[in-house]
Amino acid sequence: MTKMERAGRYPVEFNLNGEPVDGFASPRMLLSDFLRHEIGATGTHVGCEHGVCGVCTVKVDGKAVRSCLMFAVQAEGAEIETIEGMAEADGSFSALQEAFHQNFALQCGYCTPGVLMSLSEFLGRNPDPTEDEVKVALSGNICRCTGYHEIVQAAMDAAKAIREGAA
Ligand code: FES
Ligand code: FES
Repeated sequence: MTKMERAGRYPVEFNLNGEPVDGFASPRMLLSDFLRHEIGATGTHVGCEHGVCGVCTVKVDGKAVRSCLMFAVQAEGAEIETIEGMAEADGSFSALQEAFHQNFALQCGYCTPGVLMSLSEFLGRNPDPTEDEVKVALSGNICRCTGYHEIVQAAMDAAKAIREGAA
């Protein structure tokens, strides 16, 4: 056992947006706190910290996950995607980000990283959704500014743009 392990912190390594990262976490450290405080990836926000608001949503091995409900040590070896990895390789907006920009689909922006990560996963498995399906997909993401109409419209526009891009 290393000195660090004896001190109650264990090494954690995973890929973050395609790049290897590592740090140390106590067994009960949340993935959200590890991302923000150990790695410095502060794009993932934290709100309720008990799985209700959705602002901490990231993708773990392709699935949208609330990072406040997962321990950092559980992420060992995983592929994790956060808002920091959403833009295109040249730094331009992804279709989702562009649609949010065009629709003014954010006010304070606090919920936005979690909303975008949830939608990223959802549109990956349902590229041609109805508005009702978008609303259900976002039912776990709370926007305290309540701009839901624009968020749903942006999701519909992004889905169309992604379909047209694929075609
Ligand atoms: S901070 Fe994770 S769901 Fe609210
Ligand atoms: S834009 Fe403010 S919480 Fe959603």
